[in-house]
Amino acid sequence: MHDPSARADALYDKVRHVIPPMEWPVFRDDVAAILELKRQRDAVILAHNYQTPEIFHCVADIVGDSLALARKAMEVEAGVIVLAGVHFMAETAKLLNPGKTVLIPDTEAGCSLAESVTPADVRLMRERYPDVPVVTYVNTSAAVKAEADICCTSGNARQVVESLGSSRVIMIPDEFLAQNVAAETDVEIIAWKGHCEVHELFEASDIRELREAYPGVTVLAHPECPPEVVAEADFSGSTAAMTDYVATRKPPRVALMTECSMSDNVAVAHPDVEFVRPCNLCPHMKRITLANIREALEHDRHEVTIDPLVARRARLSVERMLAV
Ligand code: 13P
Ligand code: SF4
Repeated sequence: MHDPSARADALYDKVRHVIPPMEWPVFRDDVAAILELKRQRDAVILAHNYQTPEIFHCVADIVGDSLALARKAMEVEAGVIVLAGVHFMAETAKLLNPGKTVLIPDTEAGCSLAESVTPADVRLMRERYPDVPVVTYVNTSAAVKAEADICCTSGNARQVVESLGSSRVIMIPDEFLAQNVAAETDVEIIAWKGHCEVHELFEASDIRELREAYPGVTVLAHPECPPEVVAEADFSGSTAAMTDYVATRKPPRVALMTECSMSDNVAVAHPDVEFVRPCNLCPHMKRITLANIREALEHDRHEVTIDPLVARRARLSVERMLAV
């Protein structure tokens, strides 16, 4: 089928469960234009699990959590990568595949965790705790990654910490992720005070209330949630691990304590699962729209560049993580 409008309409079938028919005409033209632009520009779109369903299911070529997007960015052969996600994800793609043009449709798509720490903060921690290895969460700038020994994501945090063979590790910047890892390992974790503005809003009492209102509900929580929320949940894991849990365990009724689009995106493949939606929106993820993805492809904006000296050191941190 070569007609992009017909291809767009065929894609609607996939998402009709989560996008009402009266909303589809709002997206249809942009979806058709993006399908065509990707072909003309030799571009691929990488989308994080928190992107809205019309992006995630209709125009993205590669989807996943931060770890999967990093791994798959490295393998991209097309000339242009559009990162439908937040800025640190686009930087990670550029670090791992520096020969490609990496575009982020809105440069303001940031992250409260990445904002919470600077390279000078990391250097200060090293002075305070000499000889203690530094793990930075992937939700940091390339400049912060350049100061670290190794990176981690929510999908491999514990393995990365334990891979270092040290009895103490500094984990920057997510305090809750650090505390959640500390609960699972014998390694002593020195944390930073950063928080995800989306996941810090969940409370353990939310889960208790959900269990009363929705008997039998299975609760999955992202490890950026406070430890008391994770303790109250049935399972905690990265966005990919939550997706896999639903796919393999098929709970009849599920609540994902995470960003709102996750439930919509997972629900597309599981119309038989009831999703209870106690979600919070990430304002940064939501800056990415079909309209600005289309503009990114039409006008080559906004290209992600990283100072070569910073990139060289930051890449080492990410590559060490991928080797764990
Ligand atoms: P994941 O790596 O689990 O997808 O998490 C990324 C993120 O930003 C969560 O808030
Ligand atoms: Fe950052 Fe939280 Fe948004 Fe993820 S959900 S991008 S951690 S602010």
